[in-house]
Amino acid sequence: MKTNSGGGPGGMEGDLAEILITAEEIRRRLAELAAEIERDHEGRDLTIVGILTGSLIFLSDLLRLLRIPLRVDFVGAASYGAAIESSGELTVTKTLGLDVRGRDVLLVDDILDTGHTLQRIRRMIARHDPRSIELCVFLDKPERRRIPIEADYVGFTIPDRFVVGYGLDYAERYRNLPFVGVLKESVTGPGNATQG
Ligand code: XMP
Repeated sequence: MKTNSGGGPGGMEGDLAEILITAEEIRRRLAELAAEIERDHEGRDLTIVGILTGSLIFLSDLLRLLRIPLRVDFVGAASYGAAIESSGELTVTKTLGLDVRGRDVLLVDDILDTGHTLQRIRRMIARHDPRSIELCVFLDKPERRRIPIEADYVGFTIPDRFVVGYGLDYAERYRNLPFVGVLKESVTGPGNATQG
C-alpha cells in the first residue's frame, strides 16, 4: 500500500530519531493485556473510562480484544504548560456521562508520567461512588513519578524519553503513527527530546 507518511521529506517518520516500540510488539502485548483483564473481570460488569485524547488508539485496539460485557465512557483532561512537560495544573474538559455508582471502573490512559493526571481523574471518578477503580496505561515512565501512584495494568515500561505515536502527540501531531517513536531534536528543539 502506498503511503505519504514514510521517511521522505515532510513525512512523519522522517521526524523520528528512533522507533522505541514497533506495531508488532504493541499487537503482541495488547493480546496479553486483554487476556489478563478478561481473566480478572470474568463475571463482573466493567465500565471502561478512557482519558481523552491520548488513550484513543490504545483503548480502541484494546476494546476489540476484550470479549467480556462492558460499557465505555470518556473523560477529558487538558494540562497547561510547555508542550512536553505535564504541569500539575489540569483542566477537566469532559466529565463522566455514565453512572458508575457501585460499578467496577477501569480507567485507561496513554501514559503514566508524573502521576498528576491519573490521580486527579481517579479522585474525580471516586466521587461517583464506584465499587472499584483500577488503572490501565499503555506506557509507564516510573523515573518521572512525582505522585505515589501505580497502574494495575501496564503495556510497556519505558525510560525517560519523550515519545509520540499510538495516540501520543507532540503539539497535537503524530498521534496516528501506528508505533511509538522518539522525535529528533531538530523537531522538538535542543533539550526537549528527553524530559527531566
Ligand atoms: P502525568 O505527568 O500527569 O502525565 O502523569 C500524563 C500526561 O502527560 C503527557 N505525557 C506525554 N505525552 N509523550 C507524550 O506525547 C510523552 O512522552 C509524555 N509523557 C507525558 C500525556 O498527555 C499524558 O496523558
